[in-house]
Amino acid sequence: MLELDAFGAFSKLKTPFYYYDTALLRRTADFVAAEAARYGITVHYAVKANSSGKIIREFVSRGFGADCVSGAEVLLADSCGVPAEKIFFAGVGKSDAEISDALRIGIGAFNCESLQEMEVIDDMAAGLGVKARVALRINPDVDAHTHRYITTGLSENKFGIYSHEFDRAIELLKTSERLEFVGLQFHIGSQITDIENVIRAECGKINGITEHFESRGLLVRSIDLGGGLGVDYEDPDGNPVPDFTAWFRTIGECLRRRPDQIVHVEPGRAMVAQCGTLVSRVLFVKCGKTRNFLVLDAGMNDLIRPALYGAYHKIENLSAYYERGSDVRDCAYDVVGPVCESSDVFGEHRILRRSYRGDLIAIRSAGAYGSAMSSRYNLRPPAPDVFSDEIVNFANL
Ligand code: LLP
Repeated sequence: MLELDAFGAFSKLKTPFYYYDTALLRRTADFVAAEAARYGITVHYAVKANSSGKIIREFVSRGFGADCVSGAEVLLADSCGVPAEKIFFAGVGKSDAEISDALRIGIGAFNCESLQEMEVIDDMAAGLGVKARVALRINPDVDAHTHRYITTGLSENKFGIYSHEFDRAIELLKTSERLEFVGLQFHIGSQITDIENVIRAECGKINGITEHFESRGLLVRSIDLGGGLGVDYEDPDGNPVPDFTAWFRTIGECLRRRPDQIVHVEPGRAMVAQCGTLVSRVLFVKCGKTRNFLVLDAGMNDLIRPALYGAYHKIENLSAYYERGSDVRDCAYDVVGPVCESSDVFGEHRILRRSYRGDLIAIRSAGAYGSAMSSRYNLRPPAPDVFSDEIVNFANL
């Protein structure tokens, strides 16, 4: 059950809202910083998972860089105090305006995803009279054993430079006066749970590819393994901090690296998923012919993961637990939102404490790709962010 110090303050807030447990966020950040230092790994937070300025600043204060996938993310990271050299910019489709902003800021590297992108960055850097640091995002053709929609490292995926293009990329880097090669970047997928086997396979490929580039005279100064560490959606209280140790240890064991090489990772989900909860109220309890529905005031516009990927998020009735502790009867509900789509379902056949109109419902592990992927569909307003260390101020508004 979501642990709350002040359910009273909580229940005064207008729903829906995203609630972030700041203590867990900090505990996770401290743990990642300590483990990364132990294994000699540099961490760049993947801003796409959650772009709250408060969250980014927590990571900045621990020395993490930022992995960005749009010009707006680059500008946000810059405005949150991420040093320019720690901002990396990935993405298969960078616009000219985005490239130009990033060149002006002087970011750490563009993670180039195609030969044509390399040529465009080269031309634009020449136009501005600057150098562009580039890493090549490589498509290593490794299966991450995760959902099809969040698998990114297979040859049928649009991401990265493919093996048949390596020699042309090497030639471009050698002949360009504006592109400064910093290294290789990989990201094979997200919500990876079989971390040891998948990372072992990824490192095996990376070792061979690094050797290929170095044997042709390009010094690979940095190796970036991307993000992907999965979280426990079934049991957020049992596993609040994901297993960064297993990830870093496997990298340490399987990646061939020289002492002068920087090794990066770009976690997003594992840094923020477990500290975030979407909090909503029951609008109506509907008894259907074959199912009972809890209709919430949060919808797929607030959290699209269940509708888009069939993703599981744990659902809890906070009012039953914190206000009516003695009423322990359980019921099966389909927990749905108000949006006019049959896919607007947070969970089917969920066993919850008996629920009533007005009850507060928690949808757990929603800190990553929750608020960040929300929309205004049906003209619904965005759910605000509420942090546990500021909740009393919010409740007094
Ligand atoms: N680096 C790159 C280049 C990426 O594309 C991503 C995520 C990451 C790092 C961070 O991956 P993470 O550590 O968060 O797995 N919306 C989906 C997830 C999409 C991930 C896209 N790329 C979801 O809700 O499951």
